[in-house]
Amino acid sequence: MCGIVGLIRQKDAAGAVLEALQRLEYRGYDSVGLGVIDHKLDVFRKEGKINVLLDSFQGQFPEGGTAIAHTRWATHGRPEVKNAHPLSDGGIAVVHNGIIENEASLRQELIKGGALFSSDTDTEVILRLLLEDGGKVEDALPRILPRLEGAFALAILDERERNRIFFARRHSPLVLGIGEKENWMASDLSAFLPETREVIFLEEDRWGWITEEDIEIRRNDGSPVKPQVKIFPWNPVSAQKGRFSHFMLKEIHEQPRAITDTLSDKLSPQGLHLSEDVVALLRKTKRIQCVACGTSFNATLAFRSWVENIAGIPCEVEIASESRNRPLFPSEGLLVIAVSQSGETFDTLKAVEPFLDAQVPVLSVVNTTGNSLERCSTAILRTHAGMEIGVAASKTHLAQLSTLFLVALQLAELGGTDISDELLALRRLPSVLETVLGMERDIKEIAQRFTATQNALFLGRQRHWSTAMEGSLKLKEISYIHAEAYAAGEMKHGPIALISKEMLVVIIAPFDDHFKKIYGSLREVAARKGRILLLTTKEAPEVSEAEITLVLPTTIPLLSAFPALVALQIFAYWIARERGLDIDQPRNLAKTVTVE
Ligand code: F6R
Repeated sequence: MCGIVGLIRQKDAAGAVLEALQRLEYRGYDSVGLGVIDHKLDVFRKEGKINVLLDSFQGQFPEGGTAIAHTRWATHGRPEVKNAHPLSDGGIAVVHNGIIENEASLRQELIKGGALFSSDTDTEVILRLLLEDGGKVEDALPRILPRLEGAFALAILDERERNRIFFARRHSPLVLGIGEKENWMASDLSAFLPETREVIFLEEDRWGWITEEDIEIRRNDGSPVKPQVKIFPWNPVSAQKGRFSHFMLKEIHEQPRAITDTLSDKLSPQGLHLSEDVVALLRKTKRIQCVACGTSFNATLAFRSWVENIAGIPCEVEIASESRNRPLFPSEGLLVIAVSQSGETFDTLKAVEPFLDAQVPVLSVVNTTGNSLERCSTAILRTHAGMEIGVAASKTHLAQLSTLFLVALQLAELGGTDISDELLALRRLPSVLETVLGMERDIKEIAQRFTATQNALFLGRQRHWSTAMEGSLKLKEISYIHAEAYAAGEMKHGPIALISKEMLVVIIAPFDDHFKKIYGSLREVAARKGRILLLTTKEAPEVSEAEITLVLPTTIPLLSAFPALVALQIFAYWIARERGLDIDQPRNLAKTVTVE
C-alpha cells in the first residue's frame, strides 16, 4: 500500500529517495510523487510507476538535500496527478499514508474559512490545516494532530525550514533510520536498509522532525521522547531475485528454509521450546478466537482444524474486518490469536483492540519486526520467513502454518497428549517440500494445460478447506482467473450449478480419512464434465475421472496441506507467467493493507 520515504542530507537527496521508494514498490501503488527543497520547494508527480516519473523528468531533479517521496494506492480520489502526493501549496508539501476519517467535516470547515482545495484526497485537509494555522510546522503540528481522526503516517516539508523534515504517526507505520550525516524516514524500513540498519520504530501518537544530524521525537503534548535505537539484522540477499525470474518464485523456493528458520527458536532437540510467556498464556487457554485477513486468515482456518482435533480446544476464526463489528464474548480462558505477516494490517489491528480493552490476552503471529501488532500484543510468536517481496504471500504463509501447528501441539502437550510423531513429521517437512519443488517442471506443464481457463473451483474437506481457500486466492491474485473455494461437501448446495466442461475443478485430496467423501464430490463434478485436477498422494487408489492427477509426497495427514500448498503456489505462478502477467505486483493489490 502507499509508501513514504524522506531523506535529509547535505545535497542530492532526490535520486536517493526515489531509489529507496523503489524498494517499496512491492507494496503496490498507482501514482507517485517527489518533493525536494533546494532553494525552494519543488514537487513532481505522475500517475503510474516510479519509472514514469524518472523518465518524464529524465531523472533531473533539484540538487537539494531535503526530499520526501510517496507511492499512492488510491483510496480517496482516483489515481490521477492531482491526487498524487505530495499535496503542496504555500511552500508546504505533505505525503500521507492512512485515512483521515473526519475529512468531510474538516474540509467543509476549511472551505467555509475560504480554503481552496485542488484534489479529492483526504490528505489535503492536513495541508490546508497547516496553511490555515500559518505557524511554523513545529508549532502547528501539536495543534492540528489532535483534530485528525483516523490513521496517518506523515512526512512534511516546509520551504521556510529547509533543514528539517517533519513526521507524525498514528495507526500507520513510520520508521526512522540514522545514517552518516543523513537521516531517513520511511513507512517500511526495507526502503533504507541498504543505507543504514540503525532504526527507530516510532510509537503510536508521535511526531517530530529529522535533520542531517539529529532526530527529535515528541508526544502529542509536546514533551520530548528519548529515541530507542535498534540495530536491525538484515540479509541483503532477501532483496534480490537471484537466479529466479520473480520474487514470488524465489520465495516459493525458499519455503523449506523459511520453515527450518521458523522452527529453529521454537524447537529444541528435546521437543517444543516456545517462549515462557507464550506457554504461560497457552496454559490458561480454554477457548481460542483467531482474527486475520486474506492468506493469514486461511492460516487460521488450518489452525482451527489442528487445535480442535489435536488439542481438543474449541476455536473460532473470523475475518478481522468482520470481527471488529461483532459483539465480544470474553470469558476466562479466552485467548485471541492474531495472525499477520506484516503486523500492520489495519483491520487486524482494529480487530484486536476491543479484546485488549476487555483484558483478553492477544497472541500475535508476525513476520516483520517492530510492527504495530506486536507492540500491542500480550505475547508474540515470530515467524522467520525473511522479507517477502512478492505481493502474493507464499513463504510467510507456510511459516505461519508451521508456527500455528506448534501452538496446537503445545496445547495438546499441555493437555497430556504425546506429540512425538507430529514433531518428527514437522522436522522432516522441509525435505518433503524440497521434493515438491523438484516437481516444478511437471506442475508447469499442468499449468500450461489450464492457462486459458476462465473459472476455477477449489474443493477440499476439513483441513483442506483452508488449502483450497489459499490455492484459489493465489490463483485469482496473480493470474486474474476467477477462482472460488468451497468446502467440498458444500458444492452440491449451490456451486455445482457452475460445473461444465469449461470449469477447472482443483480437488485437494491426499489419501486420508476424508478421501472417500471427497471422492464422492469428485464424481459429482465428473458427472457434469468438469475438468478435474486432483492433488493426492501415492496411497490413494487410481482416480480415472480426473483429467490430471498430481501425486504429492506423503507426510502425516495433519501436515498434508504443506506439500499441497507449495504445488498450488507453483501452479498459480506458472499460469500467471504463461499469461504474461506482473506476478510480483498484481494489479490493484497492496502488500500491506494499512487502510480500512
Ligand atoms: C494474499 C495476501 C493478503 C494478505 C492480507 C493480510 O497473498 O498477501 O491476502 O495475506 O492482506 O496481510 P497480513 O498477513 O500482513 O496481515
